[in-house]
Amino acid sequence: MVALGLALGLVMPLILWVRRSAGVDFSFASYIDNSMVLQKEPAGAVIWGYGIAGATVTVTVGQAQETVMKKVTRVKADSNTWMVVLDPMKPGGPFEVMAEQTIGRMNFTLRVHDVLFGDVWLCSGQSNMEMTVSQIFNATREMSDTAAYQSVRILSVSLVQAEQELEDLAGLDLPWSKPTSENLGHGNFQYTSAVCWLFGRYLYDTLQYPLGLVSSSWGGTPIEAWSSQRSLKACGISKQGFIPPDSLGGPSKHSVLWNAMIHPLRTMALKGMIWYQGESNTNYNMDLYNCTFPALIEDWRQAFHHGSQGQTERFFPFGFVQLSSYLSNTTSGDGFPQIRWHQTADLGFAPNVRMPNTFMAVAMDLGDRNSPFGSIHPRDKQTVAYRLHLGARAVAYGEKHLTFQGPLPEKMEHLVDKGLLNLTYYQKIHVQRQDNKIFEISCCSDHQCTWLPAPMNASTTWTLALDVCPCHGTLGALRYAWTTWPCEYKQCPLYHPSSTLPAPPFVAFMTHQTPGHHSKDAR
Ligand SMILES: *[C@@H]1O[C@H](CO)[C@@H](O)[C@H](O)[C@H]1NC(C)=O
Ligand SMILES: *[C@@H]1O[C@H](CO)[C@@H](O)[C@H](O)[C@H]1NC(C)=O
Ligand SMILES: *[C@@H]1O[C@H](CO)[C@@H](O)[C@H](O)[C@H]1NC(C)=O
Ligand SMILES: *[C@@H]1O[C@H](CO)[C@@H](O)[C@H](O)[C@H]1NC(C)=O
Ligand SMILES: *[C@@H]1O[C@H](CO)[C@@H](O)[C@H](O)[C@H]1NC(C)=O
Ligand SMILES: *[C@@H]1O[C@H](CO)[C@@H](O)[C@H](O)[C@H]1NC(C)=O
Repeated sequence: MVALGLALGLVMPLILWVRRSAGVDFSFASYIDNSMVLQKEPAGAVIWGYGIAGATVTVTVGQAQETVMKKVTRVKADSNTWMVVLDPMKPGGPFEVMAEQTIGRMNFTLRVHDVLFGDVWLCSGQSNMEMTVSQIFNATREMSDTAAYQSVRILSVSLVQAEQELEDLAGLDLPWSKPTSENLGHGNFQYTSAVCWLFGRYLYDTLQYPLGLVSSSWGGTPIEAWSSQRSLKACGISKQGFIPPDSLGGPSKHSVLWNAMIHPLRTMALKGMIWYQGESNTNYNMDLYNCTFPALIEDWRQAFHHGSQGQTERFFPFGFVQLSSYLSNTTSGDGFPQIRWHQTADLGFAPNVRMPNTFMAVAMDLGDRNSPFGSIHPRDKQTVAYRLHLGARAVAYGEKHLTFQGPLPEKMEHLVDKGLLNLTYYQKIHVQRQDNKIFEISCCSDHQCTWLPAPMNASTTWTLALDVCPCHGTLGALRYAWTTWPCEYKQCPLYHPSSTLPAPPFVAFMTHQTPGHHSKDAR
C-alpha cells in the first residue's frame, strides 16, 4: 500500500507536466464546450480561450465535413488570451467548432462537438432561482419531461466568490449538458435551476429552436454581492460593506459574486437574463433597493455589451420575479412589500422609464404554506416561469397583443357623497374574490395619517369601487396587497380575465384632490 501510494505520488505530477507541455497552454475558456449553445443571429457568437503569446489561432465552424466559416486571430501577449467573433448564424446545428494554434511548426488543435446556435439566457439570483426541478411540485414528471427538449442545453456555474474580477469561471457544477432527470435534480439548491429550466422549456415551445440556459445563483445573497463597485457607488454604497451571513448563509460581502460568477460570463453573447433575488435585502439596504436593482441592470448591460465586443445588445431584455409570499412571524412587517415595490423602481410595473426593456413575473399569489424547504421557497415554479416567459415573448421577442402584465391602475376618483373611491384600471379586471382588507387607504386628519382597510364594494369591467366611508379625514394614498402574504394560492382578488395574471401590488398617492378635501402632501 505504502509503495503504491508513493509511486502514484510520483507519477501524477509527471502526467500533469506532460499534458501541460503538449498543449494545455492552448485551451478554450471554461464554458466553451461540447453541447453548448452559442448565440444566434443577429449577434455573432464569441469564442475565446488561452494560448501562447503571439501564436496564430484559427477558429473553424464546420458541419458534416464542410467548413462553414473560418476566423483567424492572434494570442495577445499581455493576457495570453485570444478571441474571435463569429459571423451571425441562423438557429440550428449541430456544428463542430475547431480551434487551431500555430506557432512556428507547432500546431495544436482543439475541438468541441454538438454545438447549436440559438438564444442564450443567463439566470441569476438567490435560493428561489437555485431551487432545482427535483424540489418543485410534480417534480418526477417535470424531471422526466426532457425528450422533446434535447435542444435546450443547460450549464450551471459553481459557487465561488472572489475579491477581484475574474476573467474566467473558477469552476462549473454542470458543464454544457443535455437535459436529463439527473441534471435537472442533482440535489436541493444545486442544479439545475427550476425557474431557469422551465422558462427555457416554455420559450422553446414557442420558438422551436435551440436555447442555452446558464445558471449562476447562490442562496441567501444580497444584491450587493452581485453588484460591481461601479453600481454600488452609483447608489452611495461603500465597497467595503459586509453583513453577517443570515440563516440562509450565502456570501454577503460586496461584489464578490459579481467578481467570480458574473464578470467571467460577460464575454458570452447573450439574448437576455432573468433574475430572482431580493429576499436577502429585506433586512439589508432595503430602502436602497430602488437604486441598487436598476443600477445592477444598467451595469450588467454595459458590461455584457462591451465584454462581448458589442454582440450582446446594449439594452438586452432583463426579466425578474417579483418576490412571492412567505409566512412571517414578525409583527413589524418584514420588508417584502417594500422590496416588491422597489423591484419596479417604485413604479409598480415593468418595463418602465427607469427600467427599459425589462419584464416582471408577479408571484405574490403563489405562496406555499407547507413547503418542506420553508414557506420562503414556494414550490410552484411552473407558474413563475410561465408568467416570466410571457414577459419574454412580449418584450424580448416582440410578440404583439400578448398580455404579459396583470391589471394596472390608471386613475382614482373619490366620490365623496357616495363614500366611494373608484379605481379604474388600464386593462379589464376579473374580481375573483371580495376582500375587505387587501386595499388600504391612508386617512389623514390633523397631520396624522393612518392606514385603514377599504373594503371592495362593487365593480364593472374596468372599475372597482372601494368603500372609504370610515375615513372622516382626507384620503392621502391608496395601496393594494401591501403585506407579506396578501392571499392564498392563486386567490388574490384581482386578475386579468383571460390570462389569469394577477394585478401587481401598488401604492398610489392622491394628486387630484376632490373639492372640499384638500391636502398638499399626504406623505
Ligand atoms: C496542423 O496539423 C494538421 C494535422 O496534422 C494539418 O492538417 C494542418 O494543415 C496543420 N495546420 C497548419 C496551419 O500547419
Ligand atoms: C427609494 O425608496 C426610499 C424609501 O422608500 C425613498 O426614500 C427614496 O426616495 C427612493 N429613491 C428612489 C431613487 O426612488
Ligand atoms: C419566527 O419563527 C421561527 C421558527 O419558529 C423562530 O426561530 C424565530 O425566532 C421567530 N422569529 C420571531 C421574530 O419571532
Ligand atoms: C401538477 O400536476 C397536476 C396534475 O396534472 C396539475 O393539475 C397541477 O397544476 C400541476 N402543478 C403545477 C404547479 O404545475
Ligand atoms: C357598497 O356601498 C354602499 C354605499 O356605501 C353600501 O350601502 C353597500 O352596503 C356596500 N356594499 C358592500 C358589498 O360592501
Ligand atoms: C363608481 O363605481 C360604481 C360601481 O362600479 C359605479 O356604479 C359608478 O358609476 C362609478 N362612478 C364613476 C364616477 O365612475
